[in-house]
Amino acid sequence: MFLLKLCFCVYVAFLIINVISVNLVTGLRYYSTKDLEDLREEVRSMFQHAYDSYLKYAYPYDELRPISCDGIDTWGSYSLTLIDALDTLAVMGNYSEFQRVADIVANNANFDANINVSVFETNIRIIGGLLSAHLLSYRAGVNVEPGWPCNGPLLRLAEDVARRLLAAFDTATGMPYGTVNLRYGVPPGETTITCTAGVGTYIVEFGTLSRLTGDPLYEEVALKALNALHHHRSSIGLLGNHIDVQSGRWTALDAGIGAGVDSYYEYLAKGAMLLHRPELAATFAESRKAIFRYLRQNDWHFWVSMTRGEVALPIFQSLEAFWPGTLSLVGDIDRAMKSLHNYHSVWKQYGFTPEFYNIPQGEPGTNREGYPLRPELVESTMYLYRVTKDPYLLEVGADILSSIQHSARTPCGYATVSF
Ligand SMILES: *[C@@H]1O[C@H](CO)[C@@H](O)[C@H](O)[C@H]1NC(C)=O
Ligand SMILES: *[C@@H]1O[C@H](CO)[C@@H](O)[C@H](O)[C@H]1NC(C)=O
Repeated sequence: MFLLKLCFCVYVAFLIINVISVNLVTGLRYYSTKDLEDLREEVRSMFQHAYDSYLKYAYPYDELRPISCDGIDTWGSYSLTLIDALDTLAVMGNYSEFQRVADIVANNANFDANINVSVFETNIRIIGGLLSAHLLSYRAGVNVEPGWPCNGPLLRLAEDVARRLLAAFDTATGMPYGTVNLRYGVPPGETTITCTAGVGTYIVEFGTLSRLTGDPLYEEVALKALNALHHHRSSIGLLGNHIDVQSGRWTALDAGIGAGVDSYYEYLAKGAMLLHRPELAATFAESRKAIFRYLRQNDWHFWVSMTRGEVALPIFQSLEAFWPGTLSLVGDIDRAMKSLHNYHSVWKQYGFTPEFYNIPQGEPGTNREGYPLRPELVESTMYLYRVTKDPYLLEVGADILSSIQHSARTPCGYATVSF
């Protein structure tokens, strides 16, 4: 999550709006340095609006409810947003607030709690948030402990949480349960069925933790789960959506790159780069080949049966928009740009990407029309802009920014769009 979050936030630094100059040949808008600076400031103020509203209306609850202007516990009653937003404060340059909150978290967070939490969400939001804040502390002017970055209060908290999650990985296959009680381990009677992303989205945080603490266990556990998933691929190289972590039997056989699967592929690519593990790059390359062969149609990606590759569902899901960004990391700019064009065309049609979009029918999926402020498309746009500097991508960024301001902003934050 560190890379993802950091880059997302760096991206916002050059988002743009209010631009009137248009290049008459290409039809693209032109953004001056001044335009870019104005937009960067607008993004900073958007963050401040959301963050201040959280502190004012919701803290110490997990999340802000931006319409009723109050707070609610969602993933675990551990002031989730405070931890999740900490690294963004540093990226936005608000070092005084970063120092204040890092201190609060370091002195008050206590994860020895009788609560059942999602292993996946706790990893990406809490462990990811703590680790990235830990790594940014020096830059943000924190008086770090001797031995930093291998020492520090936020690193110790991240390790404490990770140790509590380890119980979930104690299965016959090494693939984790989806839920764990932070104090007591896997709850009695817990289902043995976990989604693919819930099995394969640990290597970035767990690898970072192992490299910083010197304890190889976390990285090993995350690798074992990834290897088990890959081992259970079908004869044509595809993975399903849900698997039984004790028997290794697939219980949902649709192969796709969206909900329930997405970040498995993202973490293969990011884990390979971050930890210099060529075997993860090889697994990603093999998976990408099968995805292109069986899922890709006109640079959309359908859901197909994992055993035979027959189309099951010709839809685009908003979560799939992470894919161009991940492709850009492995140098596949051409295909990344083509898929991003597709996704942006949906964005322009509705002002955002609906959760499901039926491609042959050209309309949103029934009851899946909303937009819960997903960051995937803007993250992909950021990665691709960094590689290509293509001004079209600045326009995509500007579209996303202005739609969110127009449709999602409320007096106390930013809300899910439904229609
Ligand atoms: C930093 O955050 C605090 C708390 O939200 C806010 O009061 C302050 O104005 C921010 N400072 C800057 C420079 O943005
Ligand atoms: C956690 O889940 C188990 C099994 O479903 C349940 O018995 C227990 O009461 C739950 N604990 C809490 C704190 O909700």
